[in-house]
Amino acid sequence: MPGQCVIGLQWGDEAKGKLVDLLTDGKDLVVRYQGGANAGHTVVIGDDVYKLHHIPSGIINEGVLNLITPGVVINPPTILKEINSLAERGIDVSTRMKISQRAHVVMPWHVLEDKMWNELVSGEDNIGTTLRGIGPCYADKIGRSFAIRIGDLIQPDFPERVRKIVAVKKKVLSAASGADETALDAEAIITEYQAYAQQLEPMITDTNRILLDAVDENKDILFEGAQGSLLDIDHGTFPFVTSSNSSGVGISTGSGVPGNWIEKVIGVTKSYATRVGGGPFPTEQDNEKGQHIRDMGNEYGTTTGRPRRCGWFDAVAARYTARLGGATSVALTMLDVLSELESIDVCVAYEIDGERIEHFPANVNDLRNLTPVYESLPGWQVDVTGARSLDDLPLNAVRYARKIETLIGRPIEFISVGPDRAQTIRISQDESLEEYLNAKAV
Ligand code: GDP
Ligand code: IMO
Ligand code: MG
Repeated sequence: MPGQCVIGLQWGDEAKGKLVDLLTDGKDLVVRYQGGANAGHTVVIGDDVYKLHHIPSGIINEGVLNLITPGVVINPPTILKEINSLAERGIDVSTRMKISQRAHVVMPWHVLEDKMWNELVSGEDNIGTTLRGIGPCYADKIGRSFAIRIGDLIQPDFPERVRKIVAVKKKVLSAASGADETALDAEAIITEYQAYAQQLEPMITDTNRILLDAVDENKDILFEGAQGSLLDIDHGTFPFVTSSNSSGVGISTGSGVPGNWIEKVIGVTKSYATRVGGGPFPTEQDNEKGQHIRDMGNEYGTTTGRPRRCGWFDAVAARYTARLGGATSVALTMLDVLSELESIDVCVAYEIDGERIEHFPANVNDLRNLTPVYESLPGWQVDVTGARSLDDLPLNAVRYARKIETLIGRPIEFISVGPDRAQTIRISQDESLEEYLNAKAV
């Protein structure tokens, strides 16, 4: 099987890290292709919990090469910190990972700009970014003249480039906010980033060559999406999005793999919905139901620790992103989180100005003004965290999963009932939720 990909179908934190770790066994390559340290992917294996921001979630498995490809933006001190903390746990990242020399670098001015742009926009217009410098770094990449790629750090003209860029950035930052002129010290940045480059150099290479050779050799490649499809810069809830193509459409542009190499796309969705930061969230439950989900799911950001906004599963949105990303199957996660509820609502359509629609609107005002149309399903009120097969689940839980599968229009292949690798039900190709339920009805 050539290219497989794991993508988030919602606004991030769908448990992509868990799925990637689970699927890494037997793969030759695990590839991150967009985003940066804004991501926070969790892998839980028994008592070991790994929180990965930069490093692909395949890193825990020995014998797999992990790639960070051109579409990712890299924060050198953050990635080095992550590499060192994995080394303390016995994982030698330097032998298991390569970084593309084409990947852009999040420089100190990007973090300052991110903070400043956030402060300048208040109220419901505030994106509420992770303040990791992601947007400004991607903006400079598109703007080209002031961008720095990781391969540039070891070039002889790097110091001169930094001096020129810092001169411009200082003007922009102080004009926008009267920021302290001394906050950016070009000479200190040059020394600091050259030292980072030295430490990262053994891992920096041309990942396009590795990836294209792997394609020629028919190797097994797993791509790991960051963020979620609704945060996609082109196809998400703009402007409340991240600055990369975080839906399925970004795999090829970010990594450099030919688009037709991707054979299987697993769309990951929670059994409910969450969002961190600003922006429209049609099914949000800013009430005790939302708080219950937050408490049961421990819904606090992996990267920033912010409480995640919680709400019901939105089938209109998930159907849209599953189609957009070419999802071939679905991983339904956090089913256990809903276990105590007597009934569970699912959004099956929207109403705008009294008219029922079943497509996902492009405009942020439409998304803010619409009313979700809900169907209510009975809960199961049984702890499902120990379930390892469909037979271990209460029928109402299987019915809930089947309802979601029907609404999304793609088969559910995985049901996750807890954070651990082992807390997963895999539905094989010759099984189906529909047949399972039909057999039970006899
Ligand atoms: P990612 O960004 O998509 O990789 O997801 P995060 O790691 O940010 O957030 C998912 C959180 O839910 C992590 O703390 C996981 O350990 C946890 N998790 C994953 N799957 C399940 C599940 O099925 N049930 C519960 N209760 N937690 C889960
Ligand atoms: P993972 O990979 C959830 C959100 C931020 C903010 C918006 C823009 O763990 O699923 P940015 O810093 O990217 O400019 O912020 O996107 N965001 C995420 N939300 N999970 C993530 O990543 C996210 N990465 C960014 O909260 O609303
Ligand atoms: Mg996350």
